[in-house]
Amino acid sequence: MKEFAFGTEPPGSGRICVVGAGFMGCVIATLYAHHGYDAVICDSNQTMLDTYVERARPIAAGLVEDSDASEAMLAGVTLEPDLASAIEGAFLVHEAVQESLEVKQALFAELDRICPENVVLATNTSSFLISDIAAQMTRKERMMGIHYVTPGHIVPVIELIHAADTPAELVAWSRMLVQNIEHVGVAILERPGFLVNRIQFAMLTEIYRLMDEGLATRDDIDDAVRLSLGPRLALWGPLLTEDLIVSKKTALAVTNSIYEQTGDENYKGRKVLEDLVEQNNLGAITGQGWYKFNNSPEAVVETRDAQLRALLAWLEETDPVRSLNVS
Ligand SMILES: NC(=O)c1ccc[n+]([C@@H]2O[C@H](COP(=O)([O-])OP(=O)(O)OC[C@H]3O[C@@H](n4cnc5c(N)ncnc54)[C@H](O)[C@@H]3O)[C@@H](O)[C@H]2O)c1
Repeated sequence: MKEFAFGTEPPGSGRICVVGAGFMGCVIATLYAHHGYDAVICDSNQTMLDTYVERARPIAAGLVEDSDASEAMLAGVTLEPDLASAIEGAFLVHEAVQESLEVKQALFAELDRICPENVVLATNTSSFLISDIAAQMTRKERMMGIHYVTPGHIVPVIELIHAADTPAELVAWSRMLVQNIEHVGVAILERPGFLVNRIQFAMLTEIYRLMDEGLATRDDIDDAVRLSLGPRLALWGPLLTEDLIVSKKTALAVTNSIYEQTGDENYKGRKVLEDLVEQNNLGAITGQGWYKFNNSPEAVVETRDAQLRALLAWLEETDPVRSLNVS
């Protein structure tokens, strides 16, 4: 493999070029500027550049309390219609043009041609495989998906999508870059839906099916998730939740029972779960599941229950659904 050209870690300052000043480009450039990078935004539509500061003001207000500091930060973002000038001196070019494969492919072919070899090229695509976007590039090894989840200035996670032959160093580099802007990178090998949408639509697909078949109502579905799965997932994520609430033996039996009753292969118990059962790594009750538990099962349960009670009490007190005034 060629020597890693981008440095073992991303610079903590320096120029980042964001291409596309639309909804996401506006957020992305503002976040980079807020965290001390010299952000330049390029857009082929001058109106988008002219309206950047106005559109970014509410985003900046959530990041910087002092309005003078916020205005100074926004005024420091360079607005540049010409791509060749915009990329000058940048160590990273982050693309946020509209979700069109043809437009992105043409742009990355051009970026690959005009950017020096040590410049990382990133896409904010929501749906395309990065190998497809990079199809016309010569130096594909510098391509990453760095995908903000809306609203990107509030949601802490950023997906890091890589191809099978992306250097591991570039994935690590990208993880450090998003840490520099106080986000958390979650990496996945490129597959449709990446990580967040893959999980989200697995759940939504079942919900659409339940509704299509007239089995449950909108309100019962939302209550079921909001008052059971939701708080636990927010506290611990799906795998730690499973460790905390159910034995792997039971989890395997339940998923296989749904499989047998529906014939849907998606539910068939997977090897990763069967392996844990075989090793008797059943979760908090045995001290080891997906995670290793360093406290006794009794202590874990006590902490688990206290955390869940606190979150449910906060939800009851704030009543988020009522506050949205929906019917
Ligand atoms: N909107 C969302 O909630 C969201 C969330 C996550 C990811 N994304 C992804 O982010 C990307 C951008 O989405 P968006 O909603 O911000 O798009 P948008 O349509 O709001 O903005 C795209 C901008 O790109 C500019 N543009 C197009 N081609 C260009 C070129 N060759 N050079 C320079 N500028 C060019 C356009 O003038 C426009 O201002 C897409 O890939 C989208 O899938 C969007």
